[in-house]
Amino acid sequence: MIAYLNGRYLDKDEVSVSPDDRGFLFADGLYEVIRSYEGRLFETMAHLDRMSYGARALRFQRTDFGFLGAVAETLIARNGLAGGDATVYLQVTRGAAPRTHRFPPRETPLTVFASARFFTPHAAEMEHGVDVILVPDLRWARCDLKTIGLLPNVLAHQEAMDAGASEALFERGGVLTEGTHSNVFAVFGGEAVTPPRTNAILGGITRSVVLDLCRELEIPVREEAITVEQARRAEEIMIVGTTVEVTPVLRILNDSFRRTEPGPVVRRLQAALRERVGPRSAGS
Ligand code: PDD
Repeated sequence: MIAYLNGRYLDKDEVSVSPDDRGFLFADGLYEVIRSYEGRLFETMAHLDRMSYGARALRFQRTDFGFLGAVAETLIARNGLAGGDATVYLQVTRGAAPRTHRFPPRETPLTVFASARFFTPHAAEMEHGVDVILVPDLRWARCDLKTIGLLPNVLAHQEAMDAGASEALFERGGVLTEGTHSNVFAVFGGEAVTPPRTNAILGGITRSVVLDLCRELEIPVREEAITVEQARRAEEIMIVGTTVEVTPVLRILNDSFRRTEPGPVVRRLQAALRERVGPRSAGS
């Protein structure tokens, strides 16, 4: 596969990054995952804007990543991924410099990496629904930044795997925040509710699209905290994100939420999202 590193396209196996890179040493970096549907990148600008937002918050020396849109397109084309489902991974770190906590000299170039690969949509999960577990949200207070420091997410997701679940939902102070790589929606009396966009969650691109779809479909929607107590009584729970798209949750294995099948709201949102991402050729 062809990847991109600091202005050059090269074989992914040839990519090398310094052991002094601050991404490697401090997780001092940001990332994005963008979906490509048959060569059409989905919501690229929203992803790149979020990366710029993160770069400003982290005080990177460069904060405009608009150029990565063309890089993403090139990686899809050059890797022969335009005919099916794929993802593009983008990562930017504060660059390589001898290890010290303070920022490196201003002129230190950021390390910019991008790659693309085939993606198999989680069709069975989206169709039949998934189980999740609840885990305490032990993350830092800037979950609105999509940093590469994902250890709590990795541990929580593995815990979900070990429990036979597909995702872990974080819970902090009795309210749901989000999943390890997804945002959460619940339905109460036909109304969709998702936690508000604060520093406690990532402002998910799919979350924004789903909010938009709710308005389009005239599904009442609110951005408000969902307590664990309320979640137990939800008619529907769903997780949304670039990779999970819109996936129904059937059970919270370590709590009492149980449903036997996906509900009507998740089905409408799935259909609307499918429409939004554009036509698919037969067999894909
Ligand atoms: N994760 N919340 C967290 C913590 C995430 O890591 C993600 C995405 C989301 C959903 O955001 P979006 O709709 O913009 O993909 C919410 C990516 C896919 C990942 O880490 O692989």
